[in-house]
Amino acid sequence: MSSDPLLQPYKLKHLTLKNRIMITSHEPAYPEDGMPKDRYRAYHEERAKAGVAMTMTAGSATVSKDSPPVFNNILAYKDEVVPWMKKVTDACHEHGCAVMIQLTHLGRRTGWNKGDWLTAVSPSHEREPAHRAFPKKLEDWDIERIITDYADAAERMKAAGLDGIELQAYGHLMDQFWSPLTNTLDGPYGGSLENRLRFTTDVLDKVRERVGDEFIVGIRYTADEVKKGGITESEGLEISKILTATGKVDFLNVIRGHIDTDPGLTDVIPVQGMKSAPHLDFAGQVRKLTGMPTFHAARIPDVATARHAIASGLLDMVGMTRAHMADPHIVRKIVEKREDDIRPCVGATYCLDRIYQAGDALCMHNAATGRELTMPHDIPTADTIKKVVIVGAGPAGLEAARVAAERGHSVIVFEAAPDPGGQVRLTAQNQRRREMISIIDWRMAQCTKHNVEFRFNSWAEASDLLAENPDVVIIATGGLPHTDVLDTGNDLVVSSWDIISGDVKPGQDVLIFDDAGDHAALQAAEKIAETGAKVEIMTPDRSFAPEIMAMNLVPYMRSMQDKDVTFTVTYRLKAVTPDGNRLNATIGSDYSDMTKQSSFDQIVVNHGTIPLDELYFELKPQSSNLGVLDQKAFVSGKPQITVNNSKGRFQLFRIGDAVAARNTHAAIYDALRLVKDI
Ligand SMILES: Cc1cc2nc3c(=O)[nH]c(=O)nc-3n(C[C@H](O)[C@H](O)[C@H](O)COP(=O)(O)O)c2cc1C
Ligand code: SF4
Repeated sequence: MSSDPLLQPYKLKHLTLKNRIMITSHEPAYPEDGMPKDRYRAYHEERAKAGVAMTMTAGSATVSKDSPPVFNNILAYKDEVVPWMKKVTDACHEHGCAVMIQLTHLGRRTGWNKGDWLTAVSPSHEREPAHRAFPKKLEDWDIERIITDYADAAERMKAAGLDGIELQAYGHLMDQFWSPLTNTLDGPYGGSLENRLRFTTDVLDKVRERVGDEFIVGIRYTADEVKKGGITESEGLEISKILTATGKVDFLNVIRGHIDTDPGLTDVIPVQGMKSAPHLDFAGQVRKLTGMPTFHAARIPDVATARHAIASGLLDMVGMTRAHMADPHIVRKIVEKREDDIRPCVGATYCLDRIYQAGDALCMHNAATGRELTMPHDIPTADTIKKVVIVGAGPAGLEAARVAAERGHSVIVFEAAPDPGGQVRLTAQNQRRREMISIIDWRMAQCTKHNVEFRFNSWAEASDLLAENPDVVIIATGGLPHTDVLDTGNDLVVSSWDIISGDVKPGQDVLIFDDAGDHAALQAAEKIAETGAKVEIMTPDRSFAPEIMAMNLVPYMRSMQDKDVTFTVTYRLKAVTPDGNRLNATIGSDYSDMTKQSSFDQIVVNHGTIPLDELYFELKPQSSNLGVLDQKAFVSGKPQITVNNSKGRFQLFRIGDAVAARNTHAAIYDALRLVKDI
């Protein structure tokens, strides 16, 4: 048996967990009609198959109708959830993976204009900034009803064969009772700590009445709100002791912080550039104090830190949640001593940010995650070996090379630059975002392992490619900044890439006109602002940086708000003219015909990229498919078989930003879904 601390079994009550790695509750927003159907099951099953000991399904599965989902959560208040959860559970149990579910009432952390249009409820009228609903202050009959709802939902989960449940108590109704900031009730549910905990103990009593003593019931809770006037560390530790003393809780899953604002949420679930495992020692403190089975997750993305968490006795079970979104096969790779092959979670938090924008959780650099029904995590070998020539070693080109090589093809990659990475290399120039380079490094390592041949510093001409006698040519040349958007003065402006790359020195009084709304503008702004310069970020949209979602915005604001940076919305840069050694900007608006003039010493335009596609169009007439991508085959996972030029000797495809400006995930998804069938 292995001596790896992570691979030791753990006994939780009657349940033996086969190792120390778990996936904590996280709603990927995959339910259909509020139910965990095939996509949901396949997602958890993939991870169960690869050896994770326990998966805490759902995330905020909702127990009451007046807790409508905020991100397509499971509706645990419906009886029809039972057969669906049973299917998920049975599928994971097949592989020896324990299954639990997180149950909650969101309280004020939701909206009233969803679901059945019931008011949000909370122990005070104060609204949560992140979700904005002004709640109804709970009455006695609301409290009674919701306690019963918890018990009903717990009973449903027991009926579905789950191993246990976890009650959510950070930012949701349960701890809205606990926190003096959100509880203005008078006794018996408000006032003293004992009163504020009464709702929780009532729920525990009622749940136990229904599920008995054997069924596992745990709680994921904030043991320190880290917020003025909220639950303090000492109060949180006291709560930990009280929960333990009830004898009705089987594990503690420790959270530190508050999630009522985007910055608060980001401190609880840190994104790239933030400290690793910031709350691990605190969780260890709770374990030491209570002696309870203790779980915890918060940016423990790598095996070494996870191993430390267990080996040093800080935790009993370590949560690696986003890490498992990036690579579902972590445990298998540890067992097989292939830790180097683990696709690293780079903390981009595209996954979580998307669900808060009503999307589904997708991993920035694993396009198979959440698409287990159609996309492979293990690439199958091809029947016929082909010669695949790829142009461009950005994320699209490297993913194409990785997948093609894993299929067994012979692969050559041409890249004009001395190093791989394309736009990701630019992104990683920012110290906070330097982990992004792992998207490239991991692919380079996988490609090297599979004998991909790289030709760097090599501006490929059509003749170079044809000399290789390829069966397939894939153009992944990306794009170049598109700054040609003004009536006059296009030659007077620079691009956000010019600033990020260091090719152009930042000015002192700078306008950044951003109508792409993506990272490049803010990354350039941050770099300029750091020099002490004055920066105005202007967008014609009604909010700035619309493509940068909630949690990704936080580090930018933290970096720029104390500098000389302003944000101007709803104005459009029209023209730029020289004005001595300065530049005169003509500024208009999409809302009216108004114009005004402003003076700057540097103007930066961020307007996405235009495809670098000359090579593609040169090769197109010579290819067998004339560049045609059969979209029907592409989206339904079938091979590309179009032949409309019988003289053509190779298939030609174009992927990523070489087609149109999009993002890293889109580029990688293009590559995976094309090449998995080549
Ligand atoms: C897409 C997504 C959804 C999440 N939803 C929930 C949730 O509903 N309830 C919860 O307690 N935590 C939720 N989390 C937080 C995770 O359980 C975990 O605490 C967090 O991702 C930090 O752990 P990690 O760094 O290992 O990913 C979510 C995380 C992600 C990525
Ligand atoms: S999107 Fe980023 S944070 Fe989320 S799982 Fe993927 S790599 Fe990790």
